Amino acid sequence: SRPLMTDGLGRRISYLRISVTDRCDLRCRYCMAEKMQFLPKNQVLTLEEIALLADLFIARGIRKIRLTGGEPLVRRDIGDLVRRIGRHIGAGLEELTLTTNGTRLADHAEMLADAGVRRINVSLDSRDPERFAHVTRGGKIEQVFAGLDTARAAGLAVKINMVALKGVNDDEILSMLRWCGEEGFDLTLIETMPLGDTGEDRTDHYLPLTHVADLIRADHALTPLSHRTGGPARYHAVEGMGIKLGLITPLTQNFCADCNRIRMTCEGKIFMCLGHEDHVDFKSALREGGLPAVEPLIDQALRLKPAAHDFRIGAGEGAATRRHMSVTGG
Ligand code: GTP
Ligand code: 5AD
Ligand code: SF4
Repeated sequence: SRPLMTDGLGRRISYLRISVTDRCDLRCRYCMAEKMQFLPKNQVLTLEEIALLADLFIARGIRKIRLTGGEPLVRRDIGDLVRRIGRHIGAGLEELTLTTNGTRLADHAEMLADAGVRRINVSLDSRDPERFAHVTRGGKIEQVFAGLDTARAAGLAVKINMVALKGVNDDEILSMLRWCGEEGFDLTLIETMPLGDTGEDRTDHYLPLTHVADLIRADHALTPLSHRTGGPARYHAVEGMGIKLGLITPLTQNFCADCNRIRMTCEGKIFMCLGHEDHVDFKSALREGGLPAVEPLIDQALRLKPAAHDFRIGAGEGAATRRHMSVTGG
């Protein structure tokens, strides 16, 4: 069998994030600019190409695949890809999952569950309809609530992702936590990361999660858990609530030393780090020479993985990459 993937620093790479489209039906202020230029269709991998590359990565030791975007559920025929990759679950692949904004979840939750997805992450930065519409630049929150109901009915476990934003949703974090407790959803809070120009200064809204955690502790004891998903979140039990609170702290508490992830964009570029521009293009190799031409590129990519991102938020810092989160898929 083929060698497993280890980077130049000895980190075992077992988690692949695949962005299936750079498009999204929302325009979250910290993620995208109001007017985004999306990729022309012929530059985007077909679902068949994505599936072939996923097969190869699983053969090379990827154990967890997360589909992202943009918004993965806006990609036409996404169910075909989910089912196709889902066939590997239990036969090489340990987990197939997805991060979604939830607007189209009502139409897809059954499909996801049938294909072997067990849990999903749903981005929800506010439960207030007007505030949600503000943050997403026009999103309709009823769609997300309908999606969450359908997901629950389909038996999917749900984790809510909330980017913590000063002056935007910081007053809502405790009520979000309590609501998640009532609904039985885990909650992960995320520090805003400086990726791509959004037309807004992220410094204005940056909220260090160290402060937020202290605030929560004033009301609810938090007990650190050893539970890990393979993702960057550090989890805590929340006293009396029966849910987990995850904290993703790229700025206040770096987690790169045990990074196990790489990501593939919808154009077939492999990025070894969310915060760096270095990448390897798999699409042209695949289109010109098929999978045998791609295989040696995996090892080339692994050597490019940096020790850490160097995100900084502050006056005059700007974005770490020109790429938006929606291109790399988080
Ligand atoms: P779980 O499997 O549920 O733990 O999910 P996850 O945290 O791996 O994935 P999700 O798509 O929910 O991502 C949550 C946040 O973590 C997003 O803002 C991602 O951009 C961010 N994230 C994921 N991987 C990395 C990483 O390697 N570095 C940094 N800086 N952020 C990451
Ligand atoms: N910083 C932090 N999180 C971000 N997300 C999108 N853009 C950013 C950013 N600049 C989040 C989304 C989603 C997840 C995949 O990434 O809210 O939950
Ligand atoms: Fe779309 Fe997610 Fe970016 Fe919001 S954060 S614009 S939902 S890709």
